[in-house]
This record gives sequence, structure tokens and C-alpha cells, in this order.
Amino acid sequence: MDFEPTETQEMIQNTARQFAERVLAPKAPALDRDHSFPKESLAEAAELGLLGINVPADLGGVEAGAVAYSLAITELARACAATTVAMCVSNMVAEVVNHFGNADQRSEHVPKLCSGEYVVGGFALSETGAGSDPGAMTTKARKTDKGWVLDGSKLWITSGTDAGLFVVWARTSDAPGTKGISCFLVPGDAPGVTRGKAEEKMGQRGSPTTALEFEGVELGEEALLGELERGFPIAMMALDGGRIGIASLALGVGLAASEFANKYASERKQFGRPINSFQALQWYMADSHTELSAARLLTLRAASLKDAKQPFTREASMAKLYSSEKAFQACNRALQMLGGYGYTQDFPVERYLRDVRVTMIYEGTSEVQRLVIGRDITRQFKS
Ligand code: CAA
Ligand code: FAD
Repeated sequence: MDFEPTETQEMIQNTARQFAERVLAPKAPALDRDHSFPKESLAEAAELGLLGINVPADLGGVEAGAVAYSLAITELARACAATTVAMCVSNMVAEVVNHFGNADQRSEHVPKLCSGEYVVGGFALSETGAGSDPGAMTTKARKTDKGWVLDGSKLWITSGTDAGLFVVWARTSDAPGTKGISCFLVPGDAPGVTRGKAEEKMGQRGSPTTALEFEGVELGEEALLGELERGFPIAMMALDGGRIGIASLALGVGLAASEFANKYASERKQFGRPINSFQALQWYMADSHTELSAARLLTLRAASLKDAKQPFTREASMAKLYSSEKAFQACNRALQMLGGYGYTQDFPVERYLRDVRVTMIYEGTSEVQRLVIGRDITRQFKS
């Protein structure tokens, strides 16, 4: 057990921190206000290697591992959760293509995801009637002589407005539920792909979330990612890694809110003394500090298991569940510590609270994380 980061991990963390402070933080309030897509920031992130943190160097990544990835995402999210979630999804897409793709698919797509040529990658699993239960999806891919034809629609797709490549899940047989689902690589500009308009969201407003329509989208044989009809486990494995990313993101937002509130409370005076001298506020600070420290340890534990190529499904869900819920509470306490000022847009804490809320919903709700953890424990104690 070693709690010290390696030189590489520290280097990636520092790169991410400097980029976050220099580029993301100054732009975050306007991005939230204007709902614009952070295209330039993402291009700069790609140049720094931040869109391929855990993919091989010969495919354009930095091959720094899952722990480095977690540390970087936390630093980025301290500055701007909206830009960071686009990066999380894009990294997840690069990893899934690298892991499940054949040599041609890997060399064709992974470098373009890492370099920003695709702007970012998108992950298209959810549908109107298939959110927590993606096995209920109805999007279909029909086999033809030349390859596949894709028909259907997806909902809630992060970076749906701009992503250059989507991984898309679709039914390729009549088998029910999670069976008979396959995974496809779909260029964003393929004829028949229509991008919906961005949803009006409570937070992470600089991260456009859209529907995608597929109408007779013709795909070659080479579009199939991984084994036919084994697409569902690919989605689940991708999400195991993705949940480490979201746990790290939530942690970053919780830390940003807490740090802001701690400083504010050291300067703000009431009853003739700084408000951080009141025990009530010290207890808020103590709870947030303790819980976010625990969230970081759980998240890094899941990431280190992933790096060690050991099973980490339960640990990733525990990290995502705990980190998102505790980061939300930390943001809520931070807002309380600012009193009425916290409720205004003059301070960033109301944005942190709005931004962090969705981390309990996407990449599997808190209830789904409990389901994953509970099932895994039950399996362990099966008589
Ligand atoms: N790793 C590998 N395989 C897995 C797996 C894992 N972690 N979890 C399940 N599988 C496999 C199972 O072994 C099973 O395989 P077989 O076909 O060989 O039997 C198959 O997948 C089906 O598994 P389940 O029966 O457990 O499936 P289920 O229908 O009960 O669903 C679930 C389980 C955990 C609830 C899952 O549906 C789930 O995670 N739901 C939430 C969906 C989600 O997180 N969506 C996120 C979308 S992306 C996103 O949100 C991005 C963003 O916001 C930024
Ligand atoms: P539902 O599944 O309808 O859930 C509603 C409620 O019922 C929740 O509280 C849920 O926990 C509960 N519930 C459902 N089933 C169970 C159960 N078995 N046990 C206990 N409780 C249960 N998806 C993508 O594919 N790609 C993306 O890039 C993407 N980005 C997103 C970005 C944003 C901003 C948002 C909001 C969502 C995004 N999603 C994406 C979709 C996201 O993953 C789903 O919203 C999420 O999985 C929940 O699905 P749902 O919204 O349909 O809610």
C-alpha cells in the first residue's frame, strides 16, 4: 500500500491543475451562462494529452494509467465540471475502442480521439425508454451485404452536438433484454445521423446533452466493435471505468466548493468575529473535509485495482456512489456557509451545487450503484 503518487501520476496531475487554472477556470462562468461548447479548451486539452490519459502511447495517448486519470479529472473538475465531463466521456470512448477494437479500428480511431481530430468522442447507450435499464433499448442494426443499417434514437448524449465519433449500442437480433445487443462505431457526420438540440439543464450547461436520431445509417462491416451480440458487457465494462471518472469529477467540484467556502468563512465577520470561529461552521468544514478525503481514497482504490488489472466493478460503483453524494453535500454545506451570498451568481458556489447534482444521476444513478454493489456482495455470500 503506497499513498504517494508516482512521478508520472504527479506530472499528469500538475499538467491538469495548471491547464484548469489557466484555461478552464476563467471561462467557466461564461460557459455556464451562455451554454456554449468549450471547443477551444478541448483542443488545448488534446494537445496536452488529456483526451487519452489511459491509452497506449503508440496510439497517441499518454499511457499514464487509471490513477493518473483520476487525479487529473479531479483537478480539471475543480475548475469546470462541464468541460471535464466531455473529457471524461471522450477518454472513456478512447479506452473502449482501444480495449475492444481490432488493430485497424484502434489505429483508425484512437489517435483521432486523442489528438482532438474528432473534437471528442460520444457514448450513446441511453434511450427514452432505456436509462437505468439499457437492456430495454430499441435502436436496431440490420445486417446487409455491405455491413449494417442503423435505425433508432438515443437520448442524453454528452457532446452530442459536436462529437466526431460515437460508440452506439443497438439490437442485432430479436433476443430479449441485454442479449442480442452489439456495439458500433458511428462517425458523427455519417449520412442519416441527426443531432438534436441541447437540453436546457440545471447544471453543467457548457456540456451539451442531446438526442441522436439514426435513420437508415449505412455502416461498413468494420463498424462493429467487439463481438456480435456481446455489446452489453462492453457497455458495462466501459462504465466501470467511466464511474471512476465521474467519482473523480464529483470530488473535484466538492473540493472547489469547500475551498471557496473555507476561505470565505475566514474573511467574513459576524458578531465581531470571523464566522469560521463558530463551531457550527467548523463542523461543516470537518464533515466535508473528512468525507471528501474518504471519497478520494475510495476512488483511487478503484483506480489502482484497474491499473493492477484486478476486478474493480464493486469498487468503482462504491466510489461513484459515495463521491457523488458526499460532494453534493459538501457543495450544499459550502453554499450554507456563504449565507445569502451563496445563493447569488456573484459567487461560484451556486454553480458548483448545480453542476455536482447530476453526478448522482449519470453513468448510473445512486440507486443503480447500490444495486451493483448489493448484487456483488450477494454473489459473494451465495450459499
Ligand atoms: N462487467 C462485465 N460484464 C458485465 C458487467 C460488468 N461490470 N455487468 C454486467 N455484465 C454482463 C453480465 O455478466 C451479463 O452477461 P451475460 O450476457 O453473459 O449473461 C450481462 O452483462 C447482463 O448483466 P445484468 O443481467 O447484470 O444486466 P441488468 O439488465 O440487470 O443491468 C445494471 C445491470 C447494472 C443495472 C446496468 O443496466 C446499468 O449499469 N445500468 C445503468 C446504465 C448507465 O449507467 N448508463 C450510463 C450511460 S453513459 C452516461 O451516463 C455518460 C454520462 O453521463 C456522462
Ligand atoms: P430512470 O432509469 O427512469 O430512473 C428514474 C429513477 O428510478 C431513478 O431514481 C433511478 O435510480 C430509479 N430506478 C430505476 N431503476 C431502478 C432499480 N432497478 N432499482 C432502484 N431504482 C431504480 N447516457 C448515455 O448513454 N450517454 C451519455 O453521454 C449520457 N450523458 C448524460 C448527461 C446528462 C447531463 C444526463 C442527465 C444523462 C446522461 N446520460 C447519458 C443518461 C444517464 O445515464 C441516465 O439519465 C441515467 O442512467 C438514468 O436513466 P433515466 O434518466 O432514464 O432514469
